[in-house]
Amino acid sequence: MTARVDDYHVRRKVELWQGRHPLQGRTPRPGDIKVRSNDYLCLAGHPHVIESEIAALRAGGHGDAVSRVWVHHERDITREFEQRVAALMRAEDCVVCASGYTANVGLIQSFATRGAPVFLDMKAHISLHEGVVSAGARPVLFRHNDPQSLDRMLAQNGPGLVCVDALYSTDGDLAPLAELVEVCERHGAALVVDETHSFGAQGPDGAGLVVAAGLAERVHFRTVGLSKAVASRGGLVVSSRRNIEYFRYEALPTIFSTSVMQHEVAGFDAVLDIFEREDWRRDKLHANHAYLKQGLDALGYNVSASKTQIIALEPGDIRQATTLRDALEKRGVFGAIFFPPATPDKRCIIRFTVNCGLSRRELDRILEVCDEIREEVGMAEWRSTKRKPASQANPLEVAPKSGNAQRRLGRSRILNGWLHNGQFDGKAGADIHLRAARNRTAGVLNNHPAE
Ligand SMILES: Cc1ncc(COP(=O)(O)O)c(C=O)c1O
Repeated sequence: MTARVDDYHVRRKVELWQGRHPLQGRTPRPGDIKVRSNDYLCLAGHPHVIESEIAALRAGGHGDAVSRVWVHHERDITREFEQRVAALMRAEDCVVCASGYTANVGLIQSFATRGAPVFLDMKAHISLHEGVVSAGARPVLFRHNDPQSLDRMLAQNGPGLVCVDALYSTDGDLAPLAELVEVCERHGAALVVDETHSFGAQGPDGAGLVVAAGLAERVHFRTVGLSKAVASRGGLVVSSRRNIEYFRYEALPTIFSTSVMQHEVAGFDAVLDIFEREDWRRDKLHANHAYLKQGLDALGYNVSASKTQIIALEPGDIRQATTLRDALEKRGVFGAIFFPPATPDKRCIIRFTVNCGLSRRELDRILEVCDEIREEVGMAEWRSTKRKPASQANPLEVAPKSGNAQRRLGRSRILNGWLHNGQFDGKAGADIHLRAARNRTAGVLNNHPAE
């Protein structure tokens, strides 16, 4: 036990991090740009959400604050919300959990049997791995987003639960859901898809990527953490009526831990109203992502893994990552640093999470900063830069030679060219801007209040 604590205090904190935990960066000041929240649709301060929560608090206080297996209220608004989510996600039933983490742990703990194989994409969320530990099941890892690798593992180990994230939280990569479903069906395996980052942000009315792909009837379980587009805390499991009833009364974190409170459920329910009514938030989110990704790509950063809303810059080890983080923060751009155990040792990242409230001016400022710091952070030497697919723009040869030259120009020729010569296909985004502007005038675009 002492050795574990020493490993943190001596080897990592003193030797690796030079006395400062990597999470201790600068504190943002007013006017700084924050691209590190998961509040993708800027709903944390939405008046409809706040008012719904206040009304529920006034009507019933904190309620009974009990585990989800007990229902003490005459009107169970949690059950009404569960049924609404099930309809949205084209499933038979749903159960609310205390968090996305406990939804995943509880699901694997209650469905996997001791010693049975559970197949995990190598990048699947840590809570899915924890579920395997909790069940005493046998983890079998397959290569990230590689259905053939899964196919081989299933052939060697026999069927079991297969766990993937729909949208990977570190780099914005999407799971090849249709191919994974086919492999699972061929082997008689059950698929678990974690929709934590896609719920609200993808699919019709925010129903997620399984619905968007028309696979709702072929995916056995979906889980959701309500800490991203729902901008709250809580979780969900969605499946058949039979599976949900079993989960509700058998999953240990559901039985032995207190569930979310009534006013929180009222807030979730209000968020679903906004998912339905305000499509423009998703449109603007995706337009913002496309703009930032294309700009970073033109500057030479390897952002090829990013398919939607999450963009990772991958400088390398923890020292390179803190250098990049500090260079960005010094100039008022705040992403999130990820390092072991969230990433391998040499693949630490700074993650930008885009949201629908970012203006074109803010996006351009992020690009200007990323342009200016390329030499300072040694971008050309990063392993991720060297892996950048050849098909993508590689402007390194034409980049100005020194940081001073860049500063004299203000923006490098690359960024100027990209911004002014219409290299960005911003047509789709232009319409969305107009709609967003109209909505802003109507007072419904909340600026982004959460970290
Ligand atoms: C993919 C994924 N699943 C589950 C979780 C856990 O969700 P929660 O924060 O609601 O516990 C997270 C992150 O927070 C996540 O990124």
